[in-house]
Amino acid sequence: MTTPPERPREHWASRAGFLLAAIGSAVGLGNLWGFPYKASANGGAAFVLVYLLVIALVCLPLLVAELMIGRRTGKSPVLALAQVGGPHWRWLGYGMTLNACVILAFYSVVTGWTLLSTFHTLLFGLPADPEAFFGQISQGGWAIAGHLLAMLLTAGVIALGVRGGIERLSLWFMPLLFVLLIGMALWATTLSGAGEGYRFYLQPDLKELLRWPTLTSATGHAFFSLSLGLGAIITYASYGQGTSRLRHEAGTIAVADTSVALVGGLITFPLVAHFNLLGNLSDSTIGTLFVAIPKGMAGLGGLGRLVALVFFMVLVIAALTSAVSLLEVGTAALIDRRGWPRRKATAWAVAAITVIGLLPASDSRWIDVLYTVFGETALIFGGLLLAVLMGWGQPSIDGGVPVLLRRLLRWLATPLLLVLLVQSLLHLPQVFALFLQS
Ligand code: PHE
Repeated sequence: MTTPPERPREHWASRAGFLLAAIGSAVGLGNLWGFPYKASANGGAAFVLVYLLVIALVCLPLLVAELMIGRRTGKSPVLALAQVGGPHWRWLGYGMTLNACVILAFYSVVTGWTLLSTFHTLLFGLPADPEAFFGQISQGGWAIAGHLLAMLLTAGVIALGVRGGIERLSLWFMPLLFVLLIGMALWATTLSGAGEGYRFYLQPDLKELLRWPTLTSATGHAFFSLSLGLGAIITYASYGQGTSRLRHEAGTIAVADTSVALVGGLITFPLVAHFNLLGNLSDSTIGTLFVAIPKGMAGLGGLGRLVALVFFMVLVIAALTSAVSLLEVGTAALIDRRGWPRRKATAWAVAAITVIGLLPASDSRWIDVLYTVFGETALIFGGLLLAVLMGWGQPSIDGGVPVLLRRLLRWLATPLLLVLLVQSLLHLPQVFALFLQS
């Protein structure tokens, strides 16, 4: 590989800044929108149980591994993996970088929906016909406008750099997000029907526990939610210093992300139960929240408008701090590999991703397909290769890979991810068939 001109590498101003940024990457639409809807489609608490096990046994070790690779090398995925595993491991880095770009392409479309819903609620109130409104913003012209706006905002933050952009955004908005979420969860306890919602959410359907789809979707979702398997964590970690507290950092990120997902469910389920929409949640598509929230809130007058506004704002914050981490993967790759200045790298990455995103923006059916292929299967694949490199290979990491971490990656993560990868590959034809039928 040719060496690009050296640029002084950016760094986080503080450990808290790094942690909040990493939590900001993890906490996203996956927690507030994906998690409740997947949980209800896959056996409620059974899904939650599998999810927690996967996080503790597979994701946590991989999170430590990604943090270690980024922190020890101080490089973004392509160069970091080449340094740790040898030149051919750079292909994993390229794969991850591309995957981050594709995921952002559809993530930005959904972020656009949250932006448009926020503006509409703020300026005109709740839509009179939520289904028609959602139909309008989720496809075609408005969806493209939302996607462009989301990409523009994300690009603005990334162009400002690690400290001036990402860290500042996270320091301001992540605490706000926590406060708003807790406020909403408390408010949700006061709704009539809340009990039914909690029961639906927390009662395990044990038959579901050992079904492959529950396992693969819980694992895929755990990866997506923790931003694992595509180098976002490697990239963020590479701007940090000090390697003595990686386990502690991984634990903090995982606990924060999982708590937000659980709290997300404590908001969503009472709400949909209160508005008699429980049946809608599990069998419906990605639009549920965007339709259910305005529909239900309309009955509550001015208060409903306010709560809906807060809810959509929470979604916007969660989505933007995640989108930013996805864009940073591609941008950092161009800075490190080509030696480009940050602004130029951002502009090129944004241009490419914006173009890819036109597809899911013009036809939202693509989002399901792209999510399953890139947001689940490819992340499991990325995680598997990382587990192989760090658990079986001879990674050149200063100080070596700790024994326990190596054992977990070798004997637990590798076989499990291998089986799940096969399962999710076998499931893909079904996803395509559904897409073609729809
Ligand atoms: N973790 C984010 C979410 O839950 C999405 C994401 C995935 C962000 C991968 C970065 C990398 O919404």
